[in-house]
Amino acid sequence: MDEINLGVTCDMHVHVRDGAMCELVTPTIREGGISVVYIMPNLQPPVTTLERAIEYKQKLQKLAPETTFLMSFYLCKDLSPELIHEAARKDAIQGVKCYPAGVTTNSSAGVDPNDFSDFYPIFRAMEEENLILNLHGEKPSVGEEGNDIHVLNAEESFLPALRKLHADFPNLKIILEHCTTAAAIETVRDINKNVAQPADIRVAATITAHHLYLTIDDWAGNPINFCKPVAKLPKDKRALVAAAISGEPYFFFGSDSAPHPLCNKARHVGVCAGVYSQSLAIPYVAEIFDTQDSLDKLKCFVSDFGLSFYGVKKSDLKSLDEVILFRKEQHVPETIGDGSDIVIAPFKAGDTLKWSTKW
Ligand code: NCD
Ligand code: DOR
Ligand code: ZN
Ligand code: ZN
Repeated sequence: MDEINLGVTCDMHVHVRDGAMCELVTPTIREGGISVVYIMPNLQPPVTTLERAIEYKQKLQKLAPETTFLMSFYLCKDLSPELIHEAARKDAIQGVKCYPAGVTTNSSAGVDPNDFSDFYPIFRAMEEENLILNLHGEKPSVGEEGNDIHVLNAEESFLPALRKLHADFPNLKIILEHCTTAAAIETVRDINKNVAQPADIRVAATITAHHLYLTIDDWAGNPINFCKPVAKLPKDKRALVAAAISGEPYFFFGSDSAPHPLCNKARHVGVCAGVYSQSLAIPYVAEIFDTQDSLDKLKCFVSDFGLSFYGVKKSDLKSLDEVILFRKEQHVPETIGDGSDIVIAPFKAGDTLKWSTKW
């Protein structure tokens, strides 16, 4: 197979930032072979009003007219059930992202994952409106005898909170974003064990491109590969790859492409978490599926399952163009953005990839 039609592709977890960075990376969504994206709200300040969500979407649409943008709010005390209902009615957002306070970039305004009860009225409104709750599923690190939380167990420690949310809101659509552990994969699989058809899925998980490649050793010495949640053990990576190629409809692609200026990655204090993978999103994932002899499962992972869970309809699309994956080597540039004020180091800079995309 040298050419595969991937249909209308989607990347259901994308950071495109604001300002000059936004102008640089937003057009690279399409370059990376992606048609539909779900945009993260962790700007400074975070996106928490109808006006900002609408204005941000308009700005992105100008930068990339053929890309379909799905928008989100940032879960915090500024939201109200009334706002959720209004935003849903106006189709301004498709979901709300929940960041536990302090776990990652711009998450200081986030919530306490040990007690979501303050937000139950919001979740109730979301459930009624069929909006999606996107969870950054990590507990904040604490040193506490017998109960330490650190970057390696932060995700697994969060999983009981996921189960409780699903039990309390059985109809709320929830995504455990960018999952990185075998434990997370097993939990999402277990929650879905009695689900008869894709339309009945209520809890799904996104998997990034970089977590299909990386383990601890790859970021311990290289801040370009440092992201949250951190890449874990080889057995975890194997579980992620197996889930991605499994054809199980509750696992789909969300790159968590998270660009930072190189100067904020290449320093010895305050290294920003985030891997930028947008401009080659599909080729990175295709390479893994190819290695696993599973290219026949790629379209499900990067198109069908995500569009189905989000309920994206043909009439929502800005373009009906389909993406063709074809066998042609390409070189990952050392940096992106030469000539502009901002420089980003892409994932796997300097490597050669076996696949390319065209429209
Ligand atoms: C990001 C930046 O400035 O690039 N923040 C950061 O480095 N702490 C912006 C962002 O994460 O949205
Ligand atoms: O690595 C990450 N970077 N993880 C996140 O959850 C946020 C993201 C960012 O915004 O930089
Ligand atoms: Zn996150
Ligand atoms: Zn993210």
